[in-house]
Amino acid sequence: MPDLVRVRHSDAPLPVRLALHAFDLAAYEVLYRFSPVRKKMFFNGGYLPLAADMVQCPGLADESASAMMYHLLLHTLVRDLHPSPTRIVDVGCGQGGGLLYAHGLYPKAALAGTDRNGTVTRMAARHLADVPGSVFAKGGGDVIAFGDASFDFVVSVGAPTYFGLTAYLAEASRVCRSGGIIALSGGYRQGDHAAIEAELRRAAQVSGLVFHSYTDITPHTFAALKDDIPRREAELARVLWPFSVYGRKWADLPGSAEYDEYASGQRADFAAVLTKP
Ligand SMILES: C[S@@+](CC[C@H](N)C(=O)[O-])C[C@H]1O[C@@H](n2cnc3c(N)ncnc32)[C@H](O)[C@@H]1O
Repeated sequence: MPDLVRVRHSDAPLPVRLALHAFDLAAYEVLYRFSPVRKKMFFNGGYLPLAADMVQCPGLADESASAMMYHLLLHTLVRDLHPSPTRIVDVGCGQGGGLLYAHGLYPKAALAGTDRNGTVTRMAARHLADVPGSVFAKGGGDVIAFGDASFDFVVSVGAPTYFGLTAYLAEASRVCRSGGIIALSGGYRQGDHAAIEAELRRAAQVSGLVFHSYTDITPHTFAALKDDIPRREAELARVLWPFSVYGRKWADLPGSAEYDEYASGQRADFAAVLTKP
């Protein structure tokens, strides 16, 4: 995906940042309404290999690498914290696949999803219609659309980089109960793991969180991308020009600067876990 987010949080002039923000919102709206993404349960690039202890969830079998990203955050990386969440929120929940997976792992937990895109929160609500008590809220701006201390597990895949990591952790800490877990993943083009981890550690301190772990997951996201190239190429072949040109970048396909950065080691995808004392 093109890295608009870094420019949005940079010192670029306000009109440039506002224009990029508007473009970013419009791009997601178009993708969720008109692109092949509208038929999917996830909008993350995935993680491979799959873990042997993944739960099987009806409806997610075709997107197991994307489900694995949630397995990583909701189970693998937090196993030693012995989680038994009662209320889980997925920030930037997209089409709801992550929450369906969370339901498979923790069937008794109440689920909530928020996303700044209203089209996709409606889609997620439809996908979780059979899960009693799940709630969805369109969350505009950089505020998580739920009250203080509402959850004991705050998960987010791909959205924290849009908030900015420091702003995201402040919000995640606000909605997290004492004793709760915050697990997040994301990625940056031309990324630097040492700088990302340092920002997360600083932000944890400011927000009163305990830093638990930081993991470079780039080899795994690149493995998932390479495995998915034939499917992405086939879907892109059905997208009309000029959208296909932009689609190649969003899909990180060979021929895009995004793919080259993966191949040359300039991409930094990460997962991090924090707890609220
Ligand atoms: C890369 S997609 C990931 C979707 C989903 N987490 C998944 O893994 O399938 C990022 C999502 O974050 C949402 N998003 C971006 N900025 C946000 C914000 N400030 N508040 C809530 N959602 C946001 C986007 O609308 C999009 O649905």
